[in-house]
Amino acid sequence: MTLHGRSRATCLELDANDELAPLRELFSLPAGVLYFDGNSLGPLPKAAVSRAHEVLAREWGEGLVRSWNEAHWYASPERLGAKLAPLLGALPDEVVVADSTSINLFKAVAGALHIQSLDAPARRKIVSERSNFPSDLYVIEGLCHWIDRGYEVVLVDGASEIESALDQDCALLALTHVNYRTGAMHDLARLSALAHQCGALIVWDLAHSAGALPLDLQRDGADFAVGCTYKYLNGGPGAPAYIWIAKRHHERFSQPLKGWWSHATPFTMDPNYIGASGVAKAKCGTPPVLSMALVECGLDVFANTTMSAIREKSLRLGDLFIDLVASRCASYPLRLVTPQNHALRGSQISYEHPQGFGLMQALIRRGLIGDYRHPNIIRFGLTPLYMRYVDVWNAVTVLEEVLSSGEFQAQEPAGAVT
Ligand SMILES: Cc1ncc(COP(=O)(O)O)c(C=O)c1O
Repeated sequence: MTLHGRSRATCLELDANDELAPLRELFSLPAGVLYFDGNSLGPLPKAAVSRAHEVLAREWGEGLVRSWNEAHWYASPERLGAKLAPLLGALPDEVVVADSTSINLFKAVAGALHIQSLDAPARRKIVSERSNFPSDLYVIEGLCHWIDRGYEVVLVDGASEIESALDQDCALLALTHVNYRTGAMHDLARLSALAHQCGALIVWDLAHSAGALPLDLQRDGADFAVGCTYKYLNGGPGAPAYIWIAKRHHERFSQPLKGWWSHATPFTMDPNYIGASGVAKAKCGTPPVLSMALVECGLDVFANTTMSAIREKSLRLGDLFIDLVASRCASYPLRLVTPQNHALRGSQISYEHPQGFGLMQALIRRGLIGDYRHPNIIRFGLTPLYMRYVDVWNAVTVLEEVLSSGEFQAQEPAGAVT
């Protein structure tokens, strides 16, 4: 999509013809806000308000402990996993919703290393990217240190270095599919195949992919995947995450956080551990019931459309954003760091700006909510379920106004969350 002839009126026309436009009504969006941060925290699905009330007042308030069975709380990790599965290209019994992404990554990496200790015990290298999400790197380093069996974490920069690092010593490749800072996307199928060619397993972090673009983990041959539900899946702040394990690994999968919810029969209170079968082995303890109910409301929205429709609109919104910034903000020191090539980008547009923090704070004061990532990146998430083309037009208008006013140059107090 080029900017040729693009105007606010044509954006309104695109919205009028947008098959996803009615879905915006399913979300509660504050007036006067242009929300471009659904890649960090998705907005509130309206259904979540009444559902939260129902869980509190009826299921907890009246049902009390009976609700573990009667309101189906007990089976929620598997039920939500099955609802999420189509968005991942997974089988319904390959996914559970539980714990946080960081904790699930710990379990997935531990499980992968366990399988490799049976198949290829001499391999000692775990390859990841220096630009990976820091929590992933900390978890992998921490686990290797804890295991104390001489694993070495090798950090590389970019796709070609990843490929060169895949050799006979590599046990595991651990990558985030869409980079949280730049929005750049890896070729999941190709890297999974390359990892397997050299005898390594692969763990994917899909935090910025699930709900943002179509995934087909089964077809693409991945081994393990984890990700958040509070971003593009709109599950709510701090919502539990998910873990996917390819079925071919279920039998041999084993992870160290063997809490009672991963036992075959938790309520026999057996002093001996007998692991559940399948992906249930990846659970640990009691699920956060209220949060699980809200995740379900977020997932239910996706039943109204397809991931390919979402992806198509996301790319259009992104092209529009990039074109408008290029034409209207060309005289300012903004550098696009997101690939323009559709095959290489996720669903966010990021720019470097020398005063990125102050700039984002000024945009937020004007109602355009994106976010900032140290040291100089401003991010704008594209979320087709509730974003309009005219929102992109208005966002770039605000950006241009703030850049020309210079109001962002004042020193800003740094908050803990940026
Ligand atoms: C790519 C990626 N991985 C992991 C995480 C960490 O998730 P959690 O804090 O739920 O463990 C995040 C959080 O934003 C993320 O963006």
